[in-house]
Amino acid sequence: MRCAMEEITDKMKLFDKLSKKVSEILGGGGPMAERLQSLCDMLCSMVPYYDWVGFYFVDNDNPRELVLGPYVGEPTEHIRIKFGRGVCGQAAEREETIIVQDVSEEDNYLACSLNVRSEIVVPIFKDSCIIGELDVDSHQIEPFDGYDKTFLESVAAKVAMIY
Ligand code: SME
Repeated sequence: MRCAMEEITDKMKLFDKLSKKVSEILGGGGPMAERLQSLCDMLCSMVPYYDWVGFYFVDNDNPRELVLGPYVGEPTEHIRIKFGRGVCGQAAEREETIIVQDVSEEDNYLACSLNVRSEIVVPIFKDSCIIGELDVDSHQIEPFDGYDKTFLESVAAKVAMIY
């Protein structure tokens, strides 16, 4: 049986390794959409409890609406999400990271798949304005902690740099 400290150390090592991969992917050539898709693929395959990883971006024509961008995981019907609706819309409105450790306890939640048990949504800021979000769903209950938040916020900051 592994102790909590070993699990935290493993997580820190994993995110440290993935931070370098994130920079490599985003700093590589090619269209931005392809780089973001590679980033989603990498995160989903490397973190065992990341089961859906994707981006929503603020719609230029409707600044209080999010539009689905590159993602990996089960297809979602939530292609467009208004600010305030669901976890994504709440994170956009509040301009802060939201972690829902058990989606069955969240009233303002838009289900993407019955397999999803928890979610973290991290806003992406450019010049202090929200331009999008990184959304991660998990099939586990309560898998996310401060290390995921710090790591994914650093990913969002790197995405903003190339946006
Ligand atoms: N669950 C999100 C909707 C997006 S899908 O999970 C991909 C929400 O409540 O906003």
